[in-house]
Amino acid sequence: MADTSVSTESLGGEKKQEHKGRKLRMAFIGCGGISETQIRALQTMPEVQILAGVDTDPNRLETMKTKYAINGLYADYHKMLKEIRPDAVSVCTPNGSHAPATIASLQAGAHVITEKPMAMTPRECQAMIDAAKKAGRKLAVGFQYRYHPATAMLCRAREEGEFGKVMFVKCQALRRRGIPNWGVFGQKRLQGGGPMIDIGVHVIEMAHYVMGSPRPVAAAGKTWTYVGHKPSQVVSMWPNWDWKTYTVEDLAVGQIRFENGAIMHIEASFAAHVERDVWNFTLVGEKGGCTWDPPAIFTDRAGTMVNSVPAYLPNCDFAALFRLKLRNFVDGCLYDKPLEAPGEAGIAVQKIIDGVYRASAADREVAIK
Ligand SMILES: NC(=O)c1ccc[n+]([C@@H]2O[C@H](COP(=O)([O-])OP(=O)(O)OC[C@H]3O[C@@H](n4cnc5c(N)ncnc54)[C@H](O)[C@@H]3O)[C@@H](O)[C@H]2O)c1
Repeated sequence: MADTSVSTESLGGEKKQEHKGRKLRMAFIGCGGISETQIRALQTMPEVQILAGVDTDPNRLETMKTKYAINGLYADYHKMLKEIRPDAVSVCTPNGSHAPATIASLQAGAHVITEKPMAMTPRECQAMIDAAKKAGRKLAVGFQYRYHPATAMLCRAREEGEFGKVMFVKCQALRRRGIPNWGVFGQKRLQGGGPMIDIGVHVIEMAHYVMGSPRPVAAAGKTWTYVGHKPSQVVSMWPNWDWKTYTVEDLAVGQIRFENGAIMHIEASFAAHVERDVWNFTLVGEKGGCTWDPPAIFTDRAGTMVNSVPAYLPNCDFAALFRLKLRNFVDGCLYDKPLEAPGEAGIAVQKIIDGVYRASAADREVAIK
């Protein structure tokens, strides 16, 4: 597709360079909050041209036009795909539309990056992977935390044998009170679940990546709802969520068994009575262990228990993470570089999440196929 090269700045820095070759013509399906973060990241990449935005809400289309000078505005993605014929599409709708919008885009010949979670169920993920294979197009999942310098360091430490055999990982994505008060994050029908699928997914994806992506084989777990389905009663960062339509869990706890014998424990909550918010994973191996926040490696060295912390890691805020994940996608589309988070990574994480939800509904451990 492209006939020129563009340097990739470390951490997706904002330096904009001239690009003389063919551009990647992109469109957005879903033009809400996260699409703006993506658009700002893509606007630093001279080889990307954003031609169209699709949203069922006309106000969001107006924002695309006035704030980002995007002129192809559509309420229906089938019409956009037919008229614009984009090279690549970013799917930023609520989770329930990820699969249909992705499949339609792939069938129209576009490469796709879909926001996390990949979809609502593993079955939908599989259909997306099949569609990408059939169309011969790239399919990426918006897992930005695997581009974080701490994740990269810990992944490399595992590859270099610092942890030995990984036995156990604890994933925590806990908000003291952080129920989204926008979008449809409280509606199971449109999202597939609550904090487990919405924020647990982030910590699971990076922990699973650092573990070396083992195959999950069984899940146990339980979910509870006790705050979100009632009106907001305390001062919190996002008050007045739509409690009347709230049908997802407030807290999910799960345990996953992997084919290699490792165990992953997961805690995810929008409303946990804990001292403070937690966003972290802890890994324990036979030779060493680590935490993601702060990034640290715990080993035995010179007859001593040693805690190692990086002397330097690049600063990496949310915007930088998005530049990195979109850089990887754009490089995949234009230059056929390998995707860091392909559909296969998305379905593995989806099976973990789905396993916990199924185990909770069945009140017993369930198999993951
Ligand atoms: N990677 C991250 O860190 C991150 C952060 C936030 C959200 N997300 C993900 O991004 C997605 C969107 O989240 P958001 O916060 O932007 O939500 P949002 O509610 O702000 O935006 C979603 C938009 O999609 C539109 N939409 C709904 N159905 C549509 C359809 N069929 N066709 C076209 N447009 C449609 C809505 O009108 C809305 O404007 C979710 O899947 C969420 O999990 C990812």
